[in-house]
Parts: sequence; C-alpha cells; structure tokens
Amino acid sequence: MTDQQAKPDSSLGPVLVVIPTYNERDNIGKIVKRLHAALPQVHVLVVDDGSPDGTGQLADEMAAADERVHVLHRTEKAGLGAAYIAGFTWGLERDYGVICEMDADGSHAPEQLHRLLDALPGADLVLGSRYVPGGSVVNWPKHREFLSRGGSLYSRIVLGSNVRDMTGGYRAFKANTLRKLNLASVASAGYCFQIDLLWRTLELGFKVIEVPITFQEREYGESKMSGNIVREALVRVTKWGLRRRYTQLRNFFAPKS
Ligand code: GDD
Ligand code: MN
Repeated sequence: MTDQQAKPDSSLGPVLVVIPTYNERDNIGKIVKRLHAALPQVHVLVVDDGSPDGTGQLADEMAAADERVHVLHRTEKAGLGAAYIAGFTWGLERDYGVICEMDADGSHAPEQLHRLLDALPGADLVLGSRYVPGGSVVNWPKHREFLSRGGSLYSRIVLGSNVRDMTGGYRAFKANTLRKLNLASVASAGYCFQIDLLWRTLELGFKVIEVPITFQEREYGESKMSGNIVREALVRVTKWGLRRRYTQLRNFFAPKS
C-alpha cells in the first residue's frame, strides 16, 4: 500500500491517536489535517498542558468543528509521560481498540501511520523505528542524533533488549496491551516514559515489532528536550538494568526445587 491513503484493519476496533502538546500552535492544525487526509477514520485526542501560546484553545476550535477531534486540558506542564498516561486513560475508558502516540510537530509523518497499523494485527505493540533498515532521521542536528542513538544503545545493553529505537515516540498499541501495563504506577515524567512503557511491555512477554519510519525535525516551534529529561532517563534505565541483573543472579543461585 502507498503512504498516501490508507484504511486501518477494522478488526482491531476504532483507532485513537494521542497527540501531547506544549506550545504547538503553529503545528497542531497542520498535523491533524494531514492525519485525516491520510486516515479519515481515526480519532485524535490532543492532550494540552495549558500551553501559553493558545494551542489548547485552537484545539478546542478544531474539536468543535470535527467530531473526530477531542481535547484534554491539563493545568500545567507536567511532562510528556504524564500527558500520555492521561490520554491513554481517556482512550481506554472509551471503545478504542488501538491507541497510538504521535508528536505534534510533524516529526512523525501521518502518511506513515498505516505502516504501524498494518503491522499491529501481528503484534501487541508496533514501534515506528528510525534505526531499522529503511528508517531514517532527516534534519536532526548531529548532537541530537548522537544522544538518541546513544540512549537507545545504552538502554539496549543495560536492559538486554534487541529493540533498535527504544526512545521513539511514534507507536501503536493494542488497547489490551496498555490495559496490562499498570499505567497508574508509571512515574517517568519525561521522554524516559517511552523506554519505561516499552520495558514494561517487553517484560510482560508481549510481542513488539519495529517498522521503519522517517523522522523529520520540526520546522516550527521548539523541542522540549532538556538536561533533566536526559538525567531522568539515565538514572531510571540504570536502576531497571540493575534490578534485572539482580533478579537474574538471584534466580541463578536460588536452590533448584
Ligand atoms: N502535554 C505535553 N506536556 N506535551 C509535551 C510535553 C509536556 O510536558 N513535552 C513535550 N510535549 C510534546 C510536544 O509538544 C510534542 O508534540 C511532543 O511532545 C514531542 O516533543 P518534542 O520536544 O518535539 O520532542 P523531540 O523532538 O525533542 O523528541 C523526539 O525524540 C524523543 C527521543 O527520541 C520525540 O520523538 C520524542 O517522542 C522522543 O522520545
Ligand atoms: Mn520534536
């Protein structure tokens, strides 16, 4: 199938795309329009953290004009992870069979979402991946790509995973997968949330597939990446890795029954 127009497999149920926003006024209208041009049936939930630039109001206007668009307003900027948990919870309370993650800034091409959805019948979670053959990153400053590749490599080694793109934010979950992840206990606030959710999914033995995507750096607005976000990820991944090693050793030395 081409990347232009696609129809998701309806056997999985209705599709919800959750888009977290903080100061994305110049992006949100364009991205939703492109998404609906590519996949007219999907619903969108914008989760806005009280953006000072008026993203939330603009999303409200879009929702008033289009029943496929929904908005969740939160009072303060509380991180990507917290926004997604709120959005997933909203989606799970309704009858969506598939819940997706997508950035607002155009880095994830809506025209490629069907690649994730097409693979979902054969998996529990599909990752849009920059680092498998066919995937790529366009226009990223070298230091960002280094950080992202380094973060994925470190997480893969420490967590013993063979997933190539551990931190990406273009994903499609079966709703039933999310239901098993104990979302209420997720404490990762920043982009570490992506590794956290993936790690939970892998630990439960769910099937995770990577499909190639083209990640394109945003044209408008600014990234919310920060030193704190990197530190949180480093500390948490290291902790999960140590816990994993400890469990392996304990099992190894435990008396066999
Ligand atoms: N509601 C809310 N609250 N949204 C947020 C917050 C927040 O605190 N922080 C970021 N976002 C939204 C942005 O508005 C955007 O839609 C999306 O989350 C991604 O944020 P960016 O700031 O554009 O991320 P990036 O381009 O630097 O990072 C990309 O790479 C990361 C590492 O691979 C994204 O693909 C991330 O998802 C990914 O984890
Ligand atoms: Mn971005």
